Amino acid sequence: MGALVRQGKVRDVYDVGDAYLMVASDRISAFDWVIPTMIPDKGRVLTQISKFWFEHFGVAHHLISTDLSSIELPAELDADDLLGRSMIVKKCEVVPIECVVRGYLVGSGWKDYQNTGVVCGVELGPGLKNCAKFERPLFTPATKEDAGHDENISLARMVEIVGADVANELKEKSIAVYRDARDFAATKGIILADTKFEWGWHEGQLILIDEVLTPDSSRFWPADQYAEGRDQPSFDKQFVREYLNGTTWDKNCQPPELPAEVVEKTRAKYIEAFERLTDSKFAWK
Ligand SMILES: Nc1ncnc2c1ncn2[C@@H]1O[C@H](COP(=O)(O)OP(=O)(O)O)[C@@H](O)[C@H]1O
Ligand SMILES: [Mg+2]
Repeated sequence: MGALVRQGKVRDVYDVGDAYLMVASDRISAFDWVIPTMIPDKGRVLTQISKFWFEHFGVAHHLISTDLSSIELPAELDADDLLGRSMIVKKCEVVPIECVVRGYLVGSGWKDYQNTGVVCGVELGPGLKNCAKFERPLFTPATKEDAGHDENISLARMVEIVGADVANELKEKSIAVYRDARDFAATKGIILADTKFEWGWHEGQLILIDEVLTPDSSRFWPADQYAEGRDQPSFDKQFVREYLNGTTWDKNCQPPELPAEVVEKTRAKYIEAFERLTDSKFAWK
């Protein structure tokens, strides 16, 4: 019982019989590297935000329960440590597509636009600035790559991989969930700039899996500080990225440890994202 079936950059997945136990660790990644320093309670923030969204949407999803008394825990795990960071989820066959929805021109989209005027096959017209808002959200799928960066693919390529009907269903569902979340976040003073969903097959149905709309899978920006034409402050790894960019680390080898101040500020930002979004106090402060 309780075999570790997958260890991702952030989450550990255990087989607990009829279900998986997904445990969000306090690991943090930046520039595609897992940093050696933990951010205490970060995994709890991610799990609590995902739980909030799963319960908010009307869409079918994989969360069964966060009550661990209903399962036999893997022997190597500490029950207290698991509290707040774990989800019992339906075992799914993961659809091998990262369903990215973008509401703003940022990150790799902004880079591609500057080079070609096109973002993932969508011609955008001239004159857009860094972090400009799109009239309508763009669906820009990518393949899940085990090593390194995920690779953006065209809708035609996605159709080859999953078929036209499934491609269309994933697109429609992903955009609908993004719109709902974007509008909700706006009422909390948060811009949901973009996000990545994963979907899985369960009993013949496509359901929402993995983490949803967390600062790890999405860009959250404080709405009152938003302006086009520059980078935005964000609710997540800003301090980590700034710190690492100020060191001699070349991003091609093991990253350095983070100083206590960066850890504390990053932890506070993650907690602030949870509290602003859900209007509730983070229980592990
Ligand atoms: N309900 C589910 N059934 C099966 N696999 C899942 C389910 N939910 C999430 N996963 C997978 O579990 C892993 C979560 O670990 P994570 O740290 O996010 O990995 P990664 O480094 O690939 O992002 C991902 O590979 C995700 O596709
Ligand atoms: Mg992941």
